[in-house]
Amino acid sequence: MPDRSRAFRKLALFAICLTVAAAFLVIKTFAQNQTTATATQAPAEKTVDEVQKNIQVLKGLPQSQLIPVMNFMGASLGVRCNYCHVNKGGVWDYASDEKGEKKSAREMISLVMNTNKNTFKGSPEVSCYTCHRGRTQVAHTVSFPMPTPEPRPSAQAQGQAPAQTPGQTQAQPQGEGQQQREALPTPEEILAKYYQAIGGSAAIDKLTSRVMKGTAVTSNGTELGYEIAQSGPEMMLATITTDQGVIERGFNGTAGWEKSARGIRDLSAAELTYFRRYSSLLRDIKLQDQFSRISVAGKPKIDGRYVYVLRATTATGQREQLYFDAETGLLIRRSLSITTPVGTIPEQVEFSDYRDVDGMKVPFVVKVSSTDPNVNVTRKFTEVKLNVPVEAKRFNKPA
Ligand code: HEC
Ligand code: HEC
Repeated sequence: MPDRSRAFRKLALFAICLTVAAAFLVIKTFAQNQTTATATQAPAEKTVDEVQKNIQVLKGLPQSQLIPVMNFMGASLGVRCNYCHVNKGGVWDYASDEKGEKKSAREMISLVMNTNKNTFKGSPEVSCYTCHRGRTQVAHTVSFPMPTPEPRPSAQAQGQAPAQTPGQTQAQPQGEGQQQREALPTPEEILAKYYQAIGGSAAIDKLTSRVMKGTAVTSNGTELGYEIAQSGPEMMLATITTDQGVIERGFNGTAGWEKSARGIRDLSAAELTYFRRYSSLLRDIKLQDQFSRISVAGKPKIDGRYVYVLRATTATGQREQLYFDAETGLLIRRSLSITTPVGTIPEQVEFSDYRDVDGMKVPFVVKVSSTDPNVNVTRKFTEVKLNVPVEAKRFNKPA
């Protein structure tokens, strides 16, 4: 008897131990999930319905995406803000529902969100652009003469990539019917070739500053004087000369500011994001550290030249594509996209006219394409200097 009860007690104890262990495990995994969730979410951003006055369908959209979404809708329809919003005596009233177009747009936003949710499992396949293609009116049916179907890929000359419409790239492995499928290099090999092409790791490591002078051509064709000084990984100062005077924009590593005839002000969070994205010294040089995942997406042609495409994801989940000239190894295009409820918003930077400067290769033409007209600009440099001393105090907000 005593033996049996001892055995029973042992068993009971074992059962308790198991339960406790299981409970610990649950708590532990729960805690882990909590920490990873908070780590990726960073400080919670306000949503548009918390900040704006009259949001009915875009509820939950992060505030930083409001203007990109508005620009995207405008670009998809080929219109400006005034197509949907009223401006009275120079004052915008974005919250007003006076215009029928704004109400139509609201129904369209719901249509897009519901289609993606119900038909495409939440994947952003359909956007305003899918139907509108840069116009307010959409095509309701086929028009005559009917478009001629494209020749079948097998009809293409062998060993040639399929023909492309200008500006389009097929970021997939080479066409079918290809005879010898050549092995693509690894991401590491593509990046190593790039670093070598721009001057080698010794020159990259020793790069401390860059001063560039030239012009900036805006989306409406205006040519402005443009100068940028970049020092260390973060400090930058852009000087833009317009007919109305000089505008300076600076960032000292912590604070971003603008000085113009109208006075001195702090840059908004969105302005600072753009400024840092396109103006930091090492952004397009030290690529490896910027991504947590990177893979080779193919070898299409751009403007008649083969390029290697890298598909990369940053630690925060931002997706990018990087295009390297297959022969020279140089970075010729970098594109990124933000996924929003009304569609995937693209943004692209192109680099060309690479020239030798103090042992490094520097692109003298940098073209930014965005659905935000204020960001659309082509910078053409005439003079570039590397590793020249720039006084640190020039990057601080003027008193
Ligand atoms: C195709 C129509 C359309 C265009 C073009 C458009 N908007 Fe909007 N906008 C809307 C709609 C619809 C809403 C309301 C969304 C909702 O109810 O969730 C809105 C809301 C807004 C709001 C929030 C107003 C508030 O306080 O409730 C702002 C700000 C705004 N738009 C700015 C702009 C700017 C700036 C542009 C030009 C870059 C622009 N919009 C272009 C349709 C448009
Ligand atoms: C599935 C196709 C489709 C999608 C996607 C779509 N639209 Fe439309 N849109 C239409 C059609 C069809 C009309 C009606 C055109 C007509 O009356 O001829 C229309 C009309 C409109 C109008 C009214 C135009 C006018 O002349 O009054 C606005 C504004 C509009 N769409 C905005 C948007 C916005 C913004 C988006 C993205 C959020 C969007 N649409 C997405 C098909 C689409």
